[in-house]
Amino acid sequence: MNDGNVQNAQWRLARTPPQGWPTEGDFRWHLEAVPEPQSGQCLTRTLYLSLDPYQWGRRRSGTERPGDVCHGRTVSQVVESRIDDYQAGDFLFNTNGWQRYGLTGAGVDVFGYMFPRRLDPGLVPISTAVGVMGMLGLTAYSGLLVQCDPQPAETVVISAASGGVGQVAGQLAKIRGCRVVGITSTEKKCAYVRDELGFDAVVSHLGDEFPEALAAACPDGIDVYFENVGGRVFEAVLPLLNRKARITLCGMISQYGNTDGRPPGEVWMETGRPVFERQNVTAHSLFVGNFVADYQDRFLSEMAGWIADGRIRYREDVWEGLETAPEAFTAMLQGGNFGKTLVSVFEDPTRSDTDLVIR
Ligand SMILES: NC(=O)c1ccc[n+]([C@@H]2O[C@H](COP(=O)([O-])OP(=O)(O)OC[C@H]3O[C@@H](n4cnc5c(N)ncnc54)[C@H](OP(=O)(O)O)[C@@H]3O)[C@@H](O)[C@H]2O)c1
Repeated sequence: MNDGNVQNAQWRLARTPPQGWPTEGDFRWHLEAVPEPQSGQCLTRTLYLSLDPYQWGRRRSGTERPGDVCHGRTVSQVVESRIDDYQAGDFLFNTNGWQRYGLTGAGVDVFGYMFPRRLDPGLVPISTAVGVMGMLGLTAYSGLLVQCDPQPAETVVISAASGGVGQVAGQLAKIRGCRVVGITSTEKKCAYVRDELGFDAVVSHLGDEFPEALAAACPDGIDVYFENVGGRVFEAVLPLLNRKARITLCGMISQYGNTDGRPPGEVWMETGRPVFERQNVTAHSLFVGNFVADYQDRFLSEMAGWIADGRIRYREDVWEGLETAPEAFTAMLQGGNFGKTLVSVFEDPTRSDTDLVIR
């Protein structure tokens, strides 16, 4: 493989801790030789790179250091294998990060869970391993079904409803027989959530009249709230919470660029506490990694069935080329994405043109 002509391209973190929202200067483009797999390792090329909000948390907190290849989960194809388990040509869910080629196996430092894992392109499109069939899908599944356990006819509200986690969480609530209300932004996203995903109502958080519009869309109050956003959206939800409502605090993306130093979770809890106490609300904090051991197998088998029978649909927002990763990442953090954000690095040989929406 390493004949000296093929180079590995990477995005590395340029500085730490980056503050506020990402800027161009936070990332550095780097070229180097493609690594040689050692015994117990395989070399893979990245087909899809997943861009996720938690990556910004790692960078801001200093977990990722200047000069590190930016972390990211990937769908890859094996180029050369020195592991018995994998053959050249196999498709894997792994963690190459923001680079074209990476090593998997012995001695390779990974962050996370659910990988490496071989993917069967005959089952579902392989890109879903970093989306609806991966950590994102399990996040929606464990937060909504396991933590909040919604009952038929209850009102479930999902924020960031057109995004990676939100689109799955809302459809899971529909499968449970709930009345589902989505919160998103633009007209196009609202139409997608209502007309293609089948939510019962959708509200845009963009206008001043958002709190009233949300109240009108929830005439019986809110029994379950799936929190992806925080801030102003959370404040509009609070007065509508019914007695014994359940909340999954999945994320607070509107707060991830804050520079005031206050932990967003602390502010969120302080804001919600009076209503939580008055209404006997249960607020669950969610870390998907805690659900892998007990739920991953059940989740993967149920989700594959729901995708196959059309009960779970999903939209991917695919950016073309590793070069676009910083721009795509920044856009995703601030609502510029439409569906699960991915970067297509090498062409996916399993995919037909009709399978995916390329921006
Ligand atoms: N707890 C866990 O283990 C776990 C695991 C995975 C993800 N998460 C969390 O899940 C949430 C969704 O992640 P994702 O990867 O699926 O991202 P995503 O929803 O695909 O993308 C983020 C979305 O957030 C919305 N948004 C951004 N800024 C906003 C603002 N100021 N006000 C309102 N909405 C805003 C935008 O949608 P609109 O266009 O609708 O505004 C944007 O599309 C994040 O909070 C993430 O941190 C948590």
